[in-house]
Formats: sequence, structure tokens, C-alpha cells
Amino acid sequence: GLFGALAGAAGGAAVTAAGFAIAGGAGRAGAEPVAETIHGSERIPCHGAHQAGITTAHTAHVSYLALDLLPDADHDGILRMLRLLSGDVEALTAGTAPLADVEPELAELPARLTVTVGFGRELVRRVDPAAVPAWLGPLPKFSRDRLDEAYSGGDLLLVIAADDPVTIAHAARFLVKDVRPFAKPRWRQDGFARARGTESGGRTMRNLMGQVDGTVNPKPASSDFSGLVWLGADAGWLRNGSALVLRRIRMELDTWDRVDRVGREFAMGRTLREGAPLTGKKEHDEPDFAARDSLGFTVISKDAHIARAHSTDPGERIYRRAVNYDDGLEQGLLFACYQRDPLAQFVPIQRRLDEADLMNEWVTHIGSAVFAIPPGWRAGGRLGETLVA
Ligand code: HEM
Repeated sequence: GLFGALAGAAGGAAVTAAGFAIAGGAGRAGAEPVAETIHGSERIPCHGAHQAGITTAHTAHVSYLALDLLPDADHDGILRMLRLLSGDVEALTAGTAPLADVEPELAELPARLTVTVGFGRELVRRVDPAAVPAWLGPLPKFSRDRLDEAYSGGDLLLVIAADDPVTIAHAARFLVKDVRPFAKPRWRQDGFARARGTESGGRTMRNLMGQVDGTVNPKPASSDFSGLVWLGADAGWLRNGSALVLRRIRMELDTWDRVDRVGREFAMGRTLREGAPLTGKKEHDEPDFAARDSLGFTVISKDAHIARAHSTDPGERIYRRAVNYDDGLEQGLLFACYQRDPLAQFVPIQRRLDEADLMNEWVTHIGSAVFAIPPGWRAGGRLGETLVA
């Protein structure tokens, strides 16, 4: 609305084209915020060549929910389960209650809900052992891993993302109830970034160490993205799908507290305030890994996180979608990344980090899971139809 647009110009408040603004008072430059933008009805279509929720704009909340197949869920059971899931995802993301939803009011505000579905090794094996890709299964062990089964593995994954935690809680519970004849929950991990409206959209998120996190990342619109993230024609049923690696990484914040800002920036190779490389000024400045100081040391340590994580082989890069988690007294990062082949992309990067990343002192990998992300589907079609017919 007009008031919203004026307030946006004067006070920096976000007013989206799809939302509508309610003026809470006449705004003047520097006055208190006057616009309230309501986003609850915003929807993201679930159909397409790729599943929604992978390159979709980030939402405030995302829950990863893994299930295990029941012993007697066979090909036909899995087919029935995927039929149910497809209908549920279509309804919930459109803001309509699926049949049998006994809390239909909770389905009415999708708040950009997406549900991205992944298959673990066992699900694919039960349908067709010949269809299991070599990378689908537990990752090779890294020396610093301290993995807990409570956050690892799973046969079926639901990635439920939205701007509203009530929407997510309802979708998660409904989906779990609906697939109960075939699968039972194994773990759930809830992540978040800033609440929508707290800062203008499109900003790189900050993790709970205060770092700007997600700066160097392949752009979905760039020409090299497909070759890094979407599987190609040679991938059979996974064509237009992807591979997801999820790692639960605990932050050792009590010891991190003892490190001063110089030490924190040195370990990362970037500044805290701007997220700029230590050789630059702005977030998106290109790091100069060769630049040296007056003593002859590289300005960005060769063991700084960004130096170790940086890929000189462009085909090794991954598409990162990390969010924070905060469970009781433990905080950290739900590190998710999409790629064509985890063994050729995530694994070599993580080997370099595991070996000598300066950040290792303050982070511990405690959960790990790999899922095949089947391609998207069309109205009238079905999730996973290229694998299970
Ligand atoms: C870069 C934080 C774990 C891969 C970064 C940056 C931060 C960060 C702040 C710099 C800004 C950016 O480009 O996003 C963290 C934290 C971690 C973590 C706090 C653990 C809690 C990982 C893991 C991987 C990874 C497990 C993959 C194995 C990368 C890559 C980059 C990066 C590829 C960009 C490197 C480049 O400049 O080319 N990370 N990270 N990170 N991180 Fe991490």
C-alpha cells in the first residue's frame, strides 16, 4: 500500500509486492516503524522440474524430519505412501487442508511452505537395488566425527520449510500421521534464521557465532549451477534430482567465548562485521589467498576456514543451505548442501577441513545423513514417479 511504500522508503521497512501493508501511523523519516506486512498467505508452487525448497528463497524456519520404513513396507507400500505424500504436499503448500486433516485451520496459512522429500539408501533398495547410486549411504568417516545415531541416517526425509513455526509443526504432524502405516519417525532437527521482517530479505544469514554465512555459493541462476547440483540424463531416475548431505555441527561456544575478535576473524579468514575477506573490504570482494603481510605471512591463513573450504577444482563446489539450531543448552549449525555427487564434492572439501581447519577447535560434527532428492513432479503426476511405478 501507499503508506507501506512510503514507510519503506523512509524507514527501511520491507514491503513485498505479494504482501499488503497496514499503516499503523503516519511515517516520517526516522520515526518508529509504521508498516506491518502480512506474509501468511504467500505460497510457493510445489510442482516443477525440480522439487521446491532447494533453490527457493530462504524461509525463517526449516525442519528436517527423517523416518524409517517399517519392516513390511515393500514396493507397493512405498508406492501408496508416495501417493499420499504427493497429495498432502500439494494441498498443504497451497494452503488447503488435506483430507483427514483434523486441524484444518492450521493449514490455511502456508507462509511459503515447501516440503522437499528425500530417499535414503534403504528406501531405494527396497524398490530396486539396481537403482541405488554409489554415493547413497553413510559418508566415509572423518577423524574428528563424533556422530550420534540420534541425528544420523534415515530411510525417508521430509524437509519442511516455512516462515512460520506453527505451519511447520502442523505439516510435520499431519505428514507423520498420514505415512504411519509405512514409516515411523527417526529424528527431527529444527533450524532457523532471522524471523521474516527482522531485516530486509536477500541478506546473507548470520550463524550463531555471529559470522556472515553463505556468501560464496553457486547461484541458482548461473550457468554452472545445473552441472554442480542437478543430476543429468545419465542419472536415470534421479535426472533433475540432487544429493543432499545434512550434518549437525555443534558449536563449542563456551571455548569460542574466550577467543577475541582478531582470533575469530583469523580462524575464518573473514571479518565479523562485514563478512569481508581479510584481504578486502566488502562481503563479496574476492579473497586474495596469495596476499602477504609485511612479515611474509599470507593475510588469510592457509588453514583459515575459507582457505581450506575453497575449491580450486570448480566441479567440486557444493550448494550450501545452512541454518542455525538451538536445542536446550546446545547450539550449532544444521549444515545442508546439495550437489550431484557427495563423494566427489562434499567429501573432498570436508577432508580438507577435518585435517586442519582452524575452526575445528570450536565445531564438532555430531550428526550425518545422505539422501537422494528425486526430481520434481507435475500436477496429475507423483513424487518419486521416476523410481516407483
Ligand atoms: C565458507 C562458516 C562448516 C564449506 C564459510 C564462511 C563461513 C562459514 C562464515 C564464510 C562466508 C561464506 O562464504 O559463506 C561455517 C561454520 C561451519 C562450517 C560455522 C561449522 C559449524 C562447513 C562445512 C563445509 C563448509 C562442513 C563443507 C564440507 C564451506 C565452503 C565455503 C565456506 C565451501 C566457501 C569457501 C570459499 O570461499 O570458496 N563457512 N562453515 N563449511 N564453508 Fe563453511
